[in-house]
Amino acid sequence: MGFEITPMKEDEIGVWNKVSWEAFASVEDNLSMLLYPGGLTERTQAFMRNNTLESLSDPSFSYIFVRDSGTKDVLAVACWYFQTEDMSMQEVSEKEEKARKGRAEQEPIPGINFGAIADFREAQATSKREILAGKRHALLKVLATLPAAQRKGAGAAGLIWGLQRADELSMPAYLEASGMGRPLYGKHGFKEVSTIGQIDMRI
Ligand SMILES: CC(C)(COP(=O)(O)OP(=O)(O)OC[C@H]1O[C@@H](n2cnc3c(N)ncnc32)[C@H](O)[C@@H]1OP(=O)(O)O)[C@@H](O)C(=O)NCCC(=O)NCCS
Repeated sequence: MGFEITPMKEDEIGVWNKVSWEAFASVEDNLSMLLYPGGLTERTQAFMRNNTLESLSDPSFSYIFVRDSGTKDVLAVACWYFQTEDMSMQEVSEKEEKARKGRAEQEPIPGINFGAIADFREAQATSKREILAGKRHALLKVLATLPAAQRKGAGAAGLIWGLQRADELSMPAYLEASGMGRPLYGKHGFKEVSTIGQIDMRI
């Protein structure tokens, strides 16, 4: 099967989020149901959409679709983040604090476990700070393939797209692997450097 990568447009945010949700929610004991126990309700979708819209205004983010090059059907989605300049530890702390403040100001939304989201984000931030220490890097934030399209290379296509950009920018790549993603990342050269809870940190 051939693949093509297309950037996500603003009017495709809903499609991107649904593909991601479907991929993660199909896994037993998945993180999505811990963070969003109410499921993909209208309000949850609106919350996700607002977060994505905010990220889209930052050129460091790349939201992409992996499509079947024949049918153009979406098979997988990915979100990459490219931090092209080193940051000082003070800048890292300020960025973390800004995110923390944003979370604290968030109005409760039924079906969303903001406590769990805060714990998860804090754990991610701590590991990133310890491992990357503000250094420039490419970060794979999300990779998700529709259950019916898995094990056909679509996930690898989304991974390779970002790794090629990281190579062009001469930057290391970093991600937090789920159990399901681990074999794929290992195959593409990622080495395990740390573990947070049930989430493995790789670089
Ligand atoms: C992880 C995920 C994105 C992989 O997507 P995919 O499109 O199935 O991956 P690919 O088909 O490109 O896999 C390529 C290789 O990775 C390995 N691999 C992928 N899934 C695997 C699995 N379930 N078990 C063992 N190896 C696996 C294999 O080596 C595979 O090659 P092969 O099929 O020739 O053996 C997909 O399983 C998924 O969306 N899972 C749920 C969400 C998730 O956990 N995302 C990752 C977050 S870090």
